[in-house]
Amino acid sequence: MNDSKPATKSIAMIVAAAENGVIGVNGDLPWRLSSDLKRFKKLTMGHHIIMGRKTFDSIGRLLPGRKTVVVTRQKEFEFEGAVVVHSIEEAIEVCQHDDSPFVTGGAEIYRLAMPLVNEIQLTRVHTEIVGDTLLPEIDWNQWELVESQRHPADDKNEVEYSFEVYRRR
Ligand SMILES: NC(=O)c1ccc[n+]([C@@H]2O[C@H](COP(=O)([O-])OP(=O)(O)OC[C@H]3O[C@@H](n4cnc5c(N)ncnc54)[C@H](OP(=O)(O)O)[C@@H]3O)[C@@H](O)[C@H]2O)c1
Repeated sequence: MNDSKPATKSIAMIVAAAENGVIGVNGDLPWRLSSDLKRFKKLTMGHHIIMGRKTFDSIGRLLPGRKTVVVTRQKEFEFEGAVVVHSIEEAIEVCQHDDSPFVTGGAEIYRLAMPLVNEIQLTRVHTEIVGDTLLPEIDWNQWELVESQRHPADDKNEVEYSFEVYRRR
């Protein structure tokens, strides 16, 4: 292909999950972790972010500096400035010239994307919390932990958390 842009090298899933697997409650995040939002912004800036329609609704807007790809079954769905697709394969296809697109949830989209991702950027939130949306089961034997940094709670982060990076073995 005669295109100067780089081809996709890694497809990462980026997620924050409590120790009991909870990732969401009432269509929102169950915690306020300022450092996690900053890290999300830093890692995803300049890249495609692939998300389910429910997560897109929960964010409610386009995130600046990133190309939002919304996965939905609704054929008529549109949002100015977003790319709307109808399968995870189509989502990956539209990112083919991004060297590092991110799958940003929620649970339904993580489940669909799991076989296609080769990196997991996980924020482990060190608490058990009540919620209605769970991280899909991950076979951790297939993944190698390559980075881990634990951080205490503070006035901007209500719970202790760890930033972990996994690569597919
Ligand atoms: N902790 C975290 O890191 C994190 C990250 C992201 C989200 N979340 C949380 O997760 C929750 C939302 O997750 P969720 O699992 O309920 O929803 P979701 O994955 O964000 O979106 C689900 C929607 O995706 C579309 N979809 C699903 N499968 C599809 C398929 N095979 N083909 C085409 N479209 C498909 C459907 O949209 P239509 O209904 O429009 O057809 C479906 O309703 C919220 O609480 C959010 O805050 C947490």
